[in-house]
Amino acid sequence: MQLTAKDVRLIELLKEQIEVEKRTLNTLAKAEDEAKETAVRLVFMQMRLDTWKHQKFLEGMIDMLTQTPCDEWSAKVSRYTGRVRLERHFEALIKDESDMVELTSRALELIEDPLAEHLLLHLKEEEEKHTRALEKMIDLVKQAPLQSRKAQKGTDIVCETD
Ligand SMILES: [Fe+2]
Ligand SMILES: [Fe+2]
Repeated sequence: MQLTAKDVRLIELLKEQIEVEKRTLNTLAKAEDEAKETAVRLVFMQMRLDTWKHQKFLEGMIDMLTQTPCDEWSAKVSRYTGRVRLERHFEALIKDESDMVELTSRALELIEDPLAEHLLLHLKEEEEKHTRALEKMIDLVKQAPLQSRKAQKGTDIVCETD
């Protein structure tokens, strides 16, 4: 597909960040291994998982920018079925994430150790963020056209042209 100069620059930047994330991932893994305190180890672990996630997100963004479906019809069908499946999964996920919020809230009422409370509060905030993110995704998926780029008609899937 035809990438604009901006896309090319963007991909370069994303790749540069992926390298930094990978490097950091190694450093964090070592730090986590060497940490003697449980709380410190957990913080390193959390950063390591976030860093891994950042790497995967950045790689996924590059895929999004560089992949264009070539067969219009199957591209459209697969996006549509993917969307339906996604929505079904979302409902179950939202339920689970809400349960996680509820369970951490209840645990927070019982917890006394301030450090453990701090960690659990952080967890609860993340669960709330997960729930909100899923709700937002449902909205976006419903609104999104079945193509990633503007075509001539709203129903067009843009394909590569040589
Ligand atoms: Fe990062
Ligand atoms: Fe969660």
